[in-house]
Order: sequence, then C-alpha cells, then structure tokens
Amino acid sequence: MTINPVFTDATPVTPRDPEQQFRDDVLAGLAAPQKFLSAKYFYDAAGSDLFEAITRQPEYYPTRTEIGILDDQGAEIAALLPARANLVEFGSGSTAKVRRLLVHRTDLAAYVPVDVSESFLHSEAKALAADFPNLTIAPVAADFTRAFTLPDGLSQDAVAGFFPGSTIGNFEPPQAAQLLAHFGRVLGRGALLIVGVDLVKDKAVLDAAYDDAAGVTSAFNRNLLVRIRQELGADLDPAAFAHRAFFNADASRIEMHLVSRTAQTVTIAGQAVRFAQGETIHTENSYKYTVPSFRRLAAEAGWTPQAVWTDPNALFSIHALSRA
Ligand code: TRP
Repeated sequence: MTINPVFTDATPVTPRDPEQQFRDDVLAGLAAPQKFLSAKYFYDAAGSDLFEAITRQPEYYPTRTEIGILDDQGAEIAALLPARANLVEFGSGSTAKVRRLLVHRTDLAAYVPVDVSESFLHSEAKALAADFPNLTIAPVAADFTRAFTLPDGLSQDAVAGFFPGSTIGNFEPPQAAQLLAHFGRVLGRGALLIVGVDLVKDKAVLDAAYDDAAGVTSAFNRNLLVRIRQELGADLDPAAFAHRAFFNADASRIEMHLVSRTAQTVTIAGQAVRFAQGETIHTENSYKYTVPSFRRLAAEAGWTPQAVWTDPNALFSIHALSRA
C-alpha cells in the first residue's frame, strides 16, 4: 500500500491531547540531525510575558518602529481600507497597533481579531469595546494558519486584513507565500491586506535586537527548556544551554539557537537525548525582506502590491496589498 504524503499531515479526526503532542514534537525535533523545537511552544503564559518584555527592550526596534509608522502615517494607511470594511486581524494579541488605524475610520463595519489565546482575545476585545463603543467586535478563537470561517452576521461589505509585527518573517518564505494566499482565500474577493515587515539592515543592529543586553530574549528562548523540564518531567537544566542569535545574511534571516554548553545527556519523557558540546537546537527564524523582495513574495501569492510606508531610518515597512 502506498500512502500519499499529502494526507499524512491531515488534522486527525479527534484532536490530540496537547501534552502528548508537545512531547511527540519535542522528541521528534530533538532526534533530527539539526535539532529543532517548534516556535509555537514559546508562547505559554510566561513566554507571552517575556515576549511583551522583549518588545520594550531598547535594542528591539521592530515594535516601536512599526508603531511609529502607524502614528505618523496611520491616516494614510487607514484611508486605503474599503468603505465599511470588516477588518480582520490575524494573530491579534495586543490591540495597540490596530487602534492606530481604527481612530481614523469610524465607518468600519466590524473588527474581527483572530487569535489562539481565547482569554487574551476576550480581555483585549473588552478593553477595545470600551474605547470604541460604536465598533462591532467579533473575536474568533482560531489558529490563523488554518482554515477558519469569519463570524456569521458580518455585513456583506468588503473585507480587509491586518497582519502586523513582522510575524510573516517567522515563516519560511514558501510557507509565507502560502499563508498570504490563504489570507486571500479567507478575506475573499476585493480584499485589502496591510502587512508589517521587518527590513534587511546592518548586521550589528539585527544581532543586538535578538540578543538584548538585559537577557530577556535569552530568557524567552530558554523558556522552551523550562517548559520541557516542567511539563515533560525532564532532568534538563536550562542554564546548561546558552542563547545564540545572529543574522545569517545568505539566508536573510535571524536564527535563534540554544547551544549546549557541555557534552550532556538529558532524559525527556523517559528518552535519552544526547548533546555534543556546542551542539545547537534551532528554535526560530525571523526572515528579513527588502521592500522589493517582499513585494515579489506578495505577488507570487496572488496579491497586487500597492503603497508601502517606512520609518525615516528604513528599519521597518508596512505594505498595502490588494486582490482582484
Ligand atoms: N515576528 C517578530 C520578530 O521576528 C517577533 C518575534 C517572534 C520574536 N519570535 C521572536 C522576537 C523571537 C524575538 C524572538 O522579530
């Protein structure tokens, strides 16, 4: 019998127990020749707090710079949203950014934040509702990388998407193109998509942004090991691994790794995992684009690049894309 590999990845009929899934993913990643861990496991409660703290570090320019672009040019960006649009935010998290668009557009039909974290989604929606009493807010608890349906009862008016934070850079470029195409299917015909994209720049600036002096990104990275120790009962010492982040110019990406400080064997869920001294676990990539390279990617995914905005130092970009 042959198995079509396309189907081996299909979502199982019964969703798997998350703890079992975590264990299986960790053991599979640590059995690979280049060990890796899936970045989605960064974001437990502690990881989400650490990530918020990263965005406040002086070296971490992306959040501050993107908000600066929205403060300076939000009116022009918001003006491109179709009249009475339903605005869908993918992976919404905090509403700090979308607020800077909403203030310019009182005609929007609804704001639809999509996020896996249901509790965060509802607390943010509540805070937003207090400040925008006339806006319909229709949160969707879903993984935005998978198929989901927009809430019933949205008006038939146009749909627009918002995807800030350079989260697109955390996908491999072919997957990033697939994700943009997927957003096109979710949003439908005539959609407009606003995407925040971090730009290629001086290596020293990039390296520092992912290795802040206060060690917050290091703690964020090592939080994966804390989770493995706590949740999978591993005899693993997070301090036995160092944080390493660097810009790989050939691949145009920041790579984050955890480096084993010594030769060591750890036991995770009963399985022995061996590390050579200096061996790394690859935990995340953050791809950096140029304005033209991102516009090419968007075009490959079926979008027509429209306007693009950057800050005065060209650190970060916000792109408007449209779809026929
Ligand atoms: N997408 C942002 C970035 O790549 C935020 C982010 C995702 C991040 N994962 C991270 C920042 C890990 C630091 C470390 O910059």
